[in-house]
Amino acid sequence: MEVIIRPDAGSAANLVARILAKDLRANPSMVLGLATGRTMEAVYRHLAMMHREQNLDFSLSRTFNLDEYAGLPPSDPRSYRSTMNTHLFSQVNIDLRNTRLLDGMAADLDAECRLYEEAIGKAGGIDFQLLGIGRAGHIGFNEPLSALRSRTRVKALAPMTLEQNAAFFGGTERVPRRALTMGVGTILDCRRCVLLATGREKAEIIAKAVEGPITAMISATALQLHARCTVVVDQEAASRLQGADYYRWIFANEPEWADFRAL
Ligand code: F6R
Repeated sequence: MEVIIRPDAGSAANLVARILAKDLRANPSMVLGLATGRTMEAVYRHLAMMHREQNLDFSLSRTFNLDEYAGLPPSDPRSYRSTMNTHLFSQVNIDLRNTRLLDGMAADLDAECRLYEEAIGKAGGIDFQLLGIGRAGHIGFNEPLSALRSRTRVKALAPMTLEQNAAFFGGTERVPRRALTMGVGTILDCRRCVLLATGREKAEIIAKAVEGPITAMISATALQLHARCTVVVDQEAASRLQGADYYRWIFANEPEWADFRAL
């Protein structure tokens, strides 16, 4: 795992977009794993700008999103399908037929999850997975005690997640109680993971995810097992990290990051 600390949320999101863009230019038919949430919206704004101004091409890429609420139709503006259409898919030249999200309205949700795993396999696996982190440490909707080998499945949302997403639904009690999500094992199978976290409210959980013991109580800790995982944080989200000086030194000195140091 590598940790990159940027001065503010804007430059952290910009860095994530540039990391993704570099990989996409090297492999235009990349299979992208996508996330939703407030943090990711800034990344999608940067990608849209890079598409408009720097010809970043999504026409050959395929995407799989991490998760979707159970019981929300894709036309519902709060569904992750709708969110993705608004923030990314309508802003770049991606073929919508190449974008896949779990169907929260499927008659058989378990079968939908199995088909999703199969579809990821048929696409050759996910090359690049974008991740956010919930305040309780989830990646995707892998709530506390998610098995570290779990695959795509239906998950009950934890009270903290309901609270975190209450604003989108006009109150905690209105947030769907269940979601379909890639499993921790599904995420660990991706060839590259990049997690973005910004703001002081993520500082505690980032310290636990990066420097704490691996535990199913905090699914993000499983990323310590991933061979190629980059965690990008702003100064605030980095404020509880013990090893911050070391992480800064790596970023300042490793040739891999030379192109990315300028803000
Ligand atoms: C959503 C997802 C979640 C979010 C996380 C952070 O697709 O995978 O794990 O990334 O809840 O959400 P924000 O960015 O709203 O704090």
